[in-house]
Amino acid sequence: DSYRVAILGATGAVGTELLELLEARNFPVADLKLLASERSAGRTMSFKGEDLPVEAVGDRSFDNVDLVLASAGGSTSKAWAHKVVDAGAVVIDNSSAFRMNPEVPLVVPEVNPEAAATHRGIIANPNCTTILMAVAVWPLHQVQPVQRIVVATYQSASGAGARAMEEVKTHSREILEGESPKPGIFPYTLAFNLFPHNSPMTEVGYCEEELKMLNETRKIFGASELRVSATCVRVPVLRAHSEAINLEFEQPFPPAKAKEILATAPGVKLVEDWQANYFPMPIEASGRDEVLVGRIRQDISHPCGLELWLSGDQIRKGAALNAIQIAELLVERNWLQPATELSYK
Ligand code: A2P
Repeated sequence: DSYRVAILGATGAVGTELLELLEARNFPVADLKLLASERSAGRTMSFKGEDLPVEAVGDRSFDNVDLVLASAGGSTSKAWAHKVVDAGAVVIDNSSAFRMNPEVPLVVPEVNPEAAATHRGIIANPNCTTILMAVAVWPLHQVQPVQRIVVATYQSASGAGARAMEEVKTHSREILEGESPKPGIFPYTLAFNLFPHNSPMTEVGYCEEELKMLNETRKIFGASELRVSATCVRVPVLRAHSEAINLEFEQPFPPAKAKEILATAPGVKLVEDWQANYFPMPIEASGRDEVLVGRIRQDISHPCGLELWLSGDQIRKGAALNAIQIAELLVERNWLQPATELSYK
């Protein structure tokens, strides 16, 4: 079997990667539609040696489509997801619009593939930092449930899209030439700088990105009591995120055992050379499928604490690859059925 696929947001950082992965992973595509805003209508993008036109998304865009991979931001998803479902297609949505909706599965295939079976036309792809953390922590959580996670992130520009990546490059050049860059996509200059994550602040003192790491991890793990405290930071890296993660268990978790588990965990690559002080780096995680994990050590401040460090490609496993893996899962398990009952609000 092969499927009629549409990418909504095809011209963006994640959309471009979705297109490449559909080709590289040989997803069974019968027909491919590239959708974006009016701005991109008339552009072409290449798929399997063919130039395909980019169309502005419109009311008829989802006729004769089986699967939509959406990565065009929350408001675009809110505007179009129901129309996709009404047209009888299934949407895998990369935005935050539906992630916490109890009727929408939130899926990381290495962690909770079976959740995808319950979809009613919309499946949500989690937040990028959450996906990377989930892939690394889940295998340990299976052996001994984690009680509390304290995490600090080092997030690349790619999370804010293709234009944000360009802005970091342009601003870097301007600074090297002695000019003062003007903020554009980001509220402050990211080049040669860093700042706490620019998502909206909430009244509890955590920004939305930080609360996503709490709420989405609970939903994906099915662990409603899990405690997560995150500090999310933007750094002038182009496309891979890193995270310093402190885990607290009920009993001590020997680092040697954690390493043994993570050495064979799906989607993880253990990267540690203690002699050489060589550990995961965003530059080496970029363009790779696996989440690189290392610096696994006993928390010196707590007998039941474990420290680890990871880097993972935000555009790939943090977004496009995870979405494609969900699509592959739907195909393999024969779950790519249109919704029978529409009950989204
Ligand atoms: P366009 O290139 O036409 O603006 P990124 O996350 O890299 O910024 O990419 C966002 C993607 O979402 C782009 O493909 C962008 O298309 C698309 N997009 C943004 N706003 C809309 C919209 N209102 N309707 C359709 N696509 C949109």
